[in-house]
Amino acid sequence: MAMLEVHGLEVAYGRVKAVKGIDFSVEEGQVVTLLGTNGAGKTTTLRTLSGLLQPSAGEIWFDGKRIDGMAAHKVVQGGLAQSPEGRRIFPRLSVEDNLMLGAFARRDRAGVQADLARVFDLFEVLKERRKQSAGTFSGGEQQMLAMGRALMSRPRLLMLDEPSMGLSPLMMQRIMSTIAELQSEGVTILLVEQNAQAALSLADKGYVLEVGSIAFSDTGQNLLSDDRVRKAYLGED
Ligand SMILES: Nc1ncnc2c1ncn2[C@@H]1O[C@H](COP(=O)(O)OP(=O)(O)OP(=O)(O)O)[C@@H](O)[C@H]1O
Ligand SMILES: [Mg+2]
Repeated sequence: MAMLEVHGLEVAYGRVKAVKGIDFSVEEGQVVTLLGTNGAGKTTTLRTLSGLLQPSAGEIWFDGKRIDGMAAHKVVQGGLAQSPEGRRIFPRLSVEDNLMLGAFARRDRAGVQADLARVFDLFEVLKERRKQSAGTFSGGEQQMLAMGRALMSRPRLLMLDEPSMGLSPLMMQRIMSTIAELQSEGVTILLVEQNAQAALSLADKGYVLEVGSIAFSDTGQNLLSDDRVRKAYLGED
């Protein structure tokens, strides 16, 4: 069984189905990307995996356990965390307090301190400005903070919803190389990213979502050279 298995997942907002019965899986240690145009259902899918939305049908299995219907904090405790679209940091709180919110469900103080040190190693700017309010940060710095906060729950599977949104090319590269580094440390990653080129270059596997359904999937390398992907996501004709 894969680390994450999604079977026949449907999610609706009122009467409108945003996700229409999708199947996908993420193997432990992989980077898997979900591609799709605006409104395809990527964020809805991630929020449902996190327990923030309830599916109207289907099953979600993580680590051999069924997690659909589980409360969001239980999902995080189980090892599945998300860095949300648009970051959602708390601007008036300090950098450090924002990070500690990611560890709210943990009781192992020594482990939390070790993870804080690890996040500070990954993102030096967070360490240098740990006492400053997060609202003074640039977009890229806030993105690092959002990723750092998600890492503070010590996830085994980290979901990232458009981590490079609004970032400079340099900052984007930084985020992408951090994803590769996390993978090499054993973190499994489910990545939603507008920059399909960057995402597919990293990904072991990719799924293309079109209006709530999975249109096709393949390895990252194969999708990079797939005509349908090149036209729709890589801006080529
Ligand atoms: N809270 C909501 N209430 C009603 N409809 C919603 C809500 N959130 C999303 N939707 C709709 O569900 C569909 C999927 O939205 P979703 O945010 O999952 O797309 P997405 O793939 O993440 O898009 P984007 O690339 O723009 O972030 C869209 O049609 C959207 O308008
Ligand atoms: Mg989205």
